[in-house]
Amino acid sequence: MTDALQSAAIKILKTNDRGSYTVPTKGLYPFQWNWDSCLTALGQRHFDPARALTEIETLFAHQWPCGMVPHIIFHARDDGYFPGPDVWDCGRPVPTSGITQPPVAGFALKRLLDSAPELRTQAGPLVVKITAWHRWFHATRDPQGSGLVAIIHPWESGRDNSVDWDIPFERVPTAGVAPYTRRDTQHADPAHRPTKEQYDRYIWLVERFRGLGWQTDRLHDASPFQVVDPGFNAILIRSCLDLAELAEDFGESALAQENRALADTALAALDTLWSEARGQYLCLDRITGALIDSPSSGGLLTAFAPIPSKHAARIAATIDARGTRFRVASHAPDAAGFDAKRYWRGPIWLVVNYMIADGLSRAGEADAAARIIRSSLDLIRNSGFAEYYDPLTGEPLGGTQFTWTAAMVLEFLLREHVA
Ligand code: SER
Repeated sequence: MTDALQSAAIKILKTNDRGSYTVPTKGLYPFQWNWDSCLTALGQRHFDPARALTEIETLFAHQWPCGMVPHIIFHARDDGYFPGPDVWDCGRPVPTSGITQPPVAGFALKRLLDSAPELRTQAGPLVVKITAWHRWFHATRDPQGSGLVAIIHPWESGRDNSVDWDIPFERVPTAGVAPYTRRDTQHADPAHRPTKEQYDRYIWLVERFRGLGWQTDRLHDASPFQVVDPGFNAILIRSCLDLAELAEDFGESALAQENRALADTALAALDTLWSEARGQYLCLDRITGALIDSPSSGGLLTAFAPIPSKHAARIAATIDARGTRFRVASHAPDAAGFDAKRYWRGPIWLVVNYMIADGLSRAGEADAAARIIRSSLDLIRNSGFAEYYDPLTGEPLGGTQFTWTAAMVLEFLLREHVA
């Protein structure tokens, strides 16, 4: 069974391979996505480590001169996706989007090189490029020097329609958006995707940033949506720390020190987002200065960074207390806004499970990590390689034959016996 699962996962990774990058899934997402690619490399390392490094290298070949790494690279034309390159209109040689995504690259590169040391000699340039991205985050997304960075579009979080964004999103207008046709609802059940109103706001923000010529140092202050997401920041912290270790090994102590300093400041600031009442971290609405009392998986994913052990233990207990048949739901099932089937408002995503389990296991919460891994593999065995899953029934939802789900399965199988 395990062998069959492994072969099925590898087959999906190969089917979605376009040579030097993978697409998340045919049809729904026909280009290269930022954090999908880096997490996919973790799957590829199990059967072709050199190809895994190429996946990350291809992404960074499209890094902007300012340091930002875009969330989509439109390598080849495909009219099946909206918003395509013409809507973004970023003026790049190979078209890209103009916003970014959770910076998992530093973490992914370290994990890849740990298991494929023969690739180390090739990876030096990536250490420099990933550091430039981390530096860009702090320069442009933390202009007041709080230590934590903000996202300026929900798509940057990767958790597109999370309940977390409902309140800050009310400030984003819908009037004046150019007419458009969604494509996602032709590939997936509209009841499992974001709403039209959310799409109007997503596109309003894109048009706003495009109107500013994608000058990334101007967009934060110009955005009516500025949210500090603890999960996103935890990923950045973890990547800074992992990259610092790599940089040290490469003899790049200045880069190591820079990454470590960014992580240390952010870790200290993260504490201000902890909610004792919820037993997890919460998002901060930077425009109002208020915490957003929304118990999503973003505040659980924070365990991916080396948070205080008492908080890691409490997060493990919070996950247990959610009591869904499968874990980890992207929103607490008893909280307002929960929807078991709608994208990031309740369904389970295996990449989030992977990062939470990894963090909890590092924090000494081995049993909690093992429960997440078991639940993830149960989902796969019952429901196949879906984009996301209903936490109450395990029903597969969204796209099928999903690349990063397959990558996570290879990782979980590795850990199943040690967990
Ligand atoms: N996840 C977004 C979409 O559904 C964009 O990154 O298109």
